Amino acid sequence: MAKLEVLTYPNPILREVSEPVKEFTPAIKKLAEDMLETMYDSNGIGLAAVQVGELKRMLVLDTRPKDPEGDEDLSELERKIKQPLVLINPEIVKGEGKTTYEEGCLSVPSFFETVERFDVIEVKAQDVNGKEIRFKADGLLAICIQHEMDHLEGTLFIDHISFTKSNKIKNTIKKSGYPTKEELAEKKRLAARDARSKEPAR
Ligand code: NI
Repeated sequence: MAKLEVLTYPNPILREVSEPVKEFTPAIKKLAEDMLETMYDSNGIGLAAVQVGELKRMLVLDTRPKDPEGDEDLSELERKIKQPLVLINPEIVKGEGKTTYEEGCLSVPSFFETVERFDVIEVKAQDVNGKEIRFKADGLLAICIQHEMDHLEGTLFIDHISFTKSNKIKNTIKKSGYPTKEELAEKKRLAARDARSKEPAR
C-alpha cells in the first residue's frame, strides 16, 4: 500500500466530474487500498478518488468510532454495515428526511461548517469486484456518503453553506493558504479563553 497526496482546494481537479469505473482491474483494487491507507493516515472518515487526483467514481469510508466505547452511538443500520466500505459508481436511489452536521474535509483542512443532508439514504453501488451492493444508511455514515458523493460531481461542503460564509472561507484560503499547526493551536487557545470569559460569574 502507499499513502497518496490529498489535493486541497483551490486545486482545479477537485472541481472536475469523475468518470464511472467500467473495468474492475487489479489497479482499481490497489487504488482502493491506497485510498484507505491515505484516509486512515490523515484521520479521515471518508475519501473520494478525485481527492487523490483520480477522476474515478470511487469512495472509501470508515465512520466507525475510534474508541470502542463509542459503539453505543452507532445506529442499528450502521451496525449492520461492514466497514471499511469501498463504493464504486455509487448512486443514492432514495433520500429521506433532513439532518445537519458540522462537516470538514481533507481537501479543505481546518475549516468546519454545518451542512444539511438527507437523514436516511438508500445506496446502490458496486464493490471492488464489480458486484452490485444495495443498502440503507443513516447517522454519520449516511452524511459521509453524501459528502463523498458530492466530490464525484466536483462539489465541496463549502459550496453548501451561505454565499457570504462560503466566499469568506474561499477568499481566506486563496489569500493566506491554510493555517499552520501553530496557528490552529493559537486559534483553539483563544476560542477556549473566549468560552471561559462567557461563562456566567458565580
Ligand atoms: Ni471531503
